[in-house]
Amino acid sequence: MILVTGGAGFIGANFILSWLGRNSEPVLNLDKLSYAGNLASLASLADDARHVFVHGDIRDRALVARLFSTHRPRAVLHFAAESHVDRSIHAPGEFVESNVVGTFTLLDEALAYWKGLAASERDAFRFVNVSTDEVYGSLEADEAPFSESTAYAPNSPYSASKAAADHFARAYAHTHGLPVITTNCSNNYGPRQFPEKLIPLMIHRALAGEPLPVYGDGLNVRDWLYVDDHCLALERVLAAGRPGSTYCIGGANEIANLDLVHTLCDELQRVQPPATGHYADLIRFVADRPGHDRRYAIDAGRMRQELGWAPAETFATGLRRTVAWYLENPGWVADIVNGSYRDWVGLNYGRRPEAERT
Ligand code: NAD
Ligand code: DAU
Repeated sequence: MILVTGGAGFIGANFILSWLGRNSEPVLNLDKLSYAGNLASLASLADDARHVFVHGDIRDRALVARLFSTHRPRAVLHFAAESHVDRSIHAPGEFVESNVVGTFTLLDEALAYWKGLAASERDAFRFVNVSTDEVYGSLEADEAPFSESTAYAPNSPYSASKAAADHFARAYAHTHGLPVITTNCSNNYGPRQFPEKLIPLMIHRALAGEPLPVYGDGLNVRDWLYVDDHCLALERVLAAGRPGSTYCIGGANEIANLDLVHTLCDELQRVQPPATGHYADLIRFVADRPGHDRRYAIDAGRMRQELGWAPAETFATGLRRTVAWYLENPGWVADIVNGSYRDWVGLNYGRRPEAERT
């Protein structure tokens, strides 16, 4: 079997659903069910014996050691992390705990387990460390996209914690020969994404008739990738990626936030128009995110050339599928919008004054 950490989160859950839809090999899913972990995303696997869920923390060394020795996975796909930049500004300690200490603990226990394997199993073992393009910092408008040779320059507590985790992953490969592969992916979107992130937040608020908060001037650029395309990229990395190597994964879909929100509003208007007006009337410019990275973009040439991977979805098709999923599954978001979610919205947006339009 394979061990997936963070499999109740956005990408981890989509990965497990994609994996079990295409492979017979079981998945051991270790997730602590933080605010972002949601077993409702995996409800369709309730009667599927190939999905084994363990409620636990990757920092729990004894638990992790027991899972390795009992289940003897042939690979680890490590998704578990605190993942939201805004939260890392308010509460960075949790990012150090899960992303740095957690990844270190997992690597250390994976190493102990790996050393005890027979030679052929050791050769076949893989530890895929799922990381982000944010570790590379911010690009100017005319700069070439990030690639595997770009120097790390993390700017937020979130990206600093992911960069630290990546450095430990690299060190375990270099020092001990643990077959680690790190992937650095751009912004994902799609079904089952927690509604703190831009696209599900905007869908939820638009449908509720609430203001759509665009940070700063709205001209920050992200490179958007449909989540299933990320999942298929990770499958290719697991199957054929070079141990000790890193792979940049991206959608070649650079879009400024304001353009994205307008496109999203147009799509919502097309499929579920409000009683009056246009969803875009709800757009409001608000105070910027401190340290807000201006632009991310990925050169996925290595993925394409070495592993034959390319995204299947365009932004237009992926966004249509995403909007359709949220409209068909209103209960998924409704169940999240509970007391603790409201607390977060109050903390992040309550003290963020609406800005003058420039
Ligand atoms: P998410 O916040 O939706 O899910 C994270 C999951 O990890 C949750 O289920 C949570 O309960 C679990 N988790 C957190 N800390 C844990 C711990 N200490 N022990 C066990 N489980 C723990 O995140 P996501 O968007 O699905 O991102 C998954 C991974 O992909 C992260 O490592 C993130 O850095 C990386 N990534 C995300 C994106 C993106 O656009 N979302 C892009 C590139 C890379
Ligand atoms: O690039 C990969 C990263 O993408 C992942 O590593 C992170 O886990 C993931 O959260 C994402 O980070 P971003 O900060 O880019 O995503 P977010 O959805 O928070 O914001 C996307 C852009 O939209 C960013 O420029 C900030 C802006 N934004 C966001 C929110 C929540 C707004 O303008 N308004 C908002 O309310």
